[in-house]
Amino acid sequence: MSLRRRTLLKVIVVGDSGVGKTSLMNQYVHKKFSQQYKATIGSDFVTKELQIDDRLVTLQIWDTAGQERFQSLGVAFYRGADCCVLVYDVNVMRSFDTLDNWHEEFLKQANPPDPSSFPFILLGNKIDIDGGNSRVVSEKKAREWCAAKGNIPYFETSAKEDHNVDAAFLSIARTAMANE
Ligand code: GTP
Ligand code: MG
Repeated sequence: MSLRRRTLLKVIVVGDSGVGKTSLMNQYVHKKFSQQYKATIGSDFVTKELQIDDRLVTLQIWDTAGQERFQSLGVAFYRGADCCVLVYDVNVMRSFDTLDNWHEEFLKQANPPDPSSFPFILLGNKIDIDGGNSRVVSEKKAREWCAAKGNIPYFETSAKEDHNVDAAFLSIARTAMANE
């Protein structure tokens, strides 16, 4: 099969501090997980190449800081984004409650031509903790939120156990591609 087209997709990952944004990216790109928490300061991106249908796709994944004092991104940073990945921790209610904010703030900053159809995807991370016994946000509740926001795709993930991480990012790439 010939790879007729190359595509660069810009993906931005947002969500509360500590939900596992950096860990999900590290697992996806480097197949590595660290128990140790090191807050992201500012922002940085990693890239991953993948083949989708007849296209060679470069995913440019921008990690952002959840801690407010480390958020120093200008509006220009969000411009040209093809997809926004929202992440929360299924064991922390506050990280779910702030999703509305992250969603709204992203649209305000990125200012896409058609906000109502801009592609988002939601990841509920850390489903491994305590075998799921300490989760406080049900899958049903998360899916209802996604439905209310115009059918945002939803994945439950564990960066630690590499559960659903590849599937989630493949879906992210496809979602971003649809917007490109
Ligand atoms: P900021 O950079 O501050 O915004 O945080 P972040 O969202 O990037 O979180 P990070 O990836 O640094 O993870 C925070 C902590 O949670 C670290 O100690 C990780 O080891 C841990 N962690 C991340 N993902 C998982 C997971 O799926 N399961 C478990 N058990 N721990 C996780
Ligand atoms: Mg981080």
